[in-house]
Amino acid sequence: MSTVLVTGGNGYIGSHTVIALHESGYEVVIADNLSNSKLEVQRRLEKITGKSFKFYNVDCCDKEALRQVFEENKIDSVIHFAGLKAVGESVRIPLDYYRNNIMSAITVAELMKEYGVGKLVFSSSATVYGMSEDVPFTEESPLGVCTNPYGWTKWMIEQILRDFASANPEIKVCLLRYFNPVGAHESGLIGEDPRGIPNNLFPYISKVAGGTLECLTVFGDDYNTPDGTCLRDYIHVCDLADGHVKAIEYLAKTEENVCVFNLGTGKGTSVKEAIAAFEKACGHEIKHVFGARRPGDIPVCYASTEKAERELGFKARFGIDEMCSSCWKWQTMNPDGLAD
Ligand code: WQD
Repeated sequence: MSTVLVTGGNGYIGSHTVIALHESGYEVVIADNLSNSKLEVQRRLEKITGKSFKFYNVDCCDKEALRQVFEENKIDSVIHFAGLKAVGESVRIPLDYYRNNIMSAITVAELMKEYGVGKLVFSSSATVYGMSEDVPFTEESPLGVCTNPYGWTKWMIEQILRDFASANPEIKVCLLRYFNPVGAHESGLIGEDPRGIPNNLFPYISKVAGGTLECLTVFGDDYNTPDGTCLRDYIHVCDLADGHVKAIEYLAKTEENVCVFNLGTGKGTSVKEAIAAFEKACGHEIKHVFGARRPGDIPVCYASTEKAERELGFKARFGIDEMCSSCWKWQTMNPDGLAD
């Protein structure tokens, strides 16, 4: 049984990936410092899978603490999610983002080399394409000028891992560039549970629908798009999780030292369309007003999915309706998120 270490495995995308790995027959070990997730997720994972996963409450920047995970488990591959990921926060505290995100990636890579772990999947982001409007983005699209420190950390870590892999031919790295992950596991037991006021559209819409937030502000309806609002490539978090299993399988057979894949649906959905889809899912109006554009937003962002389909055998299964209905189920079952 192949063992996968999932750093940040208690988080939103990480926890959904733990389930997908388990269901695909992998042994999973989780390392997470609980800085942006609650331990209750572990109990929910056990409820969903019937399995109590080995969990290490460690910070991936703490090399000696993380070493214990490699000492006590025969790790075959690593999926590295652990990191700070709030765009707005990264503008306010950039040094924390550079230190945490870059140091955690370097620490994981150093321990992988020391313990002979040869396969690494890194959680990157479409944000590395920057402000380009040359859509759809392919994996060959030029990396852009990122609009925030969070995006720059992804950009920089991609380069660091490329250099790491080329200096260590026994290591294979897969860079997965996510577009906009949304939705929740069909059980409604786990989902996106941001601390405080959500920055992202879907958790915000979900809380307005659930009555815990008053009204959504749509950041701009004067863009050069069909309905004036920005288009994004929303992808169901369970599809995203499946993409990680495909990436682990790909690394087991490829000769490539470094590979890059977009994980998206290839479809752009506008803010207005997302609101309408969520209203259909929840059965009532989502109160919203139109406000000023948000600095750093690009009008249109969606993926070319051709390479992931051809080489990974990955194709998203779920559409915007399933994304909204799963999000709404999570919201109604957990109106205040998970207890600390
Ligand atoms: C989507 C659209 C907003 C909130 C970010 C990160 C990216 C990735 C996904 C991690 C935009 C509009 C939003 C609101 C709104 N994260 N919006 N009112 O900015 O595309 O991507 O999250 O990997 O790296 O950059 O996602 O959900 O914030 O915004 O009108 O209250 O919704 O303007 O057009 P974004 P988002």
